[in-house]
Amino acid sequence: MGKIIAIALPKGGVGKTTAAVNLAFALSLKKKRTLLIDLDPAGCCSSSLGFIKEKINGDMFDVFNFSKSLLQVIQKTEEENLSFIPLKNLNYKDEVRLSKLAANQSLLRNVLRAEAHSFDFIIIDCPPYLIGLTTDALIAADSVLIPFMTGKFSMNAVDKILDHMDNIKKNFNQHLSVEGILMSNYEYNTKVSFTAKKELYAKYPDLMLRTVIPKNVAIVEATFQNKPSIKLNPSAKSSVAYLLLADEIIEKNSLGYYQVLTDIDVKDTIRTKEKF
Ligand SMILES: Nc1ncnc2c1ncn2[C@@H]1O[C@H](COP(=O)(O)OP(=O)(O)O)[C@@H](O)[C@H]1O
Ligand SMILES: [Mg+2]
Repeated sequence: MGKIIAIALPKGGVGKTTAAVNLAFALSLKKKRTLLIDLDPAGCCSSSLGFIKEKINGDMFDVFNFSKSLLQVIQKTEEENLSFIPLKNLNYKDEVRLSKLAANQSLLRNVLRAEAHSFDFIIIDCPPYLIGLTTDALIAADSVLIPFMTGKFSMNAVDKILDHMDNIKKNFNQHLSVEGILMSNYEYNTKVSFTAKKELYAKYPDLMLRTVIPKNVAIVEATFQNKPSIKLNPSAKSSVAYLLLADEIIEKNSLGYYQVLTDIDVKDTIRTKEKF
């Protein structure tokens, strides 16, 4: 049974889509059968993977709308082990309709659980709000990966999603766990990044992922080229970090789904090359 990981935080511009695309790509390079699902009506995963509108034959809107099955909307990519379900950039009317369809909170869980055996990992890119599609994703998921970018209100957003996860666990999905908090755009040598990181490690020592993604211009360049950064520039520091993140997630999950990080020294700085 494949593991379903939602990438979520109720804040925009924190690296959710970047993490979803690059982690899914990295997992597929590691020979893991991976399905990436775009659940953000902004539809950014499609362009990050180089999918143009005309190439898209069905999407998550069709699944929520009962006009196509999940299997019918899975798109093949150039990578052997990477499949993708897009969400087309919706007009206002369809976005309102989708928000109503998303009220059917168990639909996503049911359709994903029925196909999860065909994959090792299913990665869901969530929108920057909790109501609706993100809630559906958390009900469907085994775990949540929380990207963190230093900035105003970032810590509030982490608290907010952890609170929301508690609700979901109580009411819908008792096995939901935190895959980890990921520093998704870490600026080495800046005091503000270092302080935020220290604060996060102090507050959530058991939840921090060992791998840290550095801020890197290769990621910004890739968005203009409509390609995952790992593919465009595999030797960039951020690409190497995403490959390490895939290793970390594979390793963590081979120990068992709900193994927490308590047995891993979060201050192990081999990968981050930073001293605490
Ligand atoms: N490690 C990084 N280094 C530099 N820029 C990054 C990095 N991660 C993300 N970005 C940039 O930050 C912006 C927001 O990222 P995105 O993944 O779209 O966030 P979200 O999906 O949470 O809204 C994008 O322009 C992206 O290119
Ligand atoms: Mg996004």
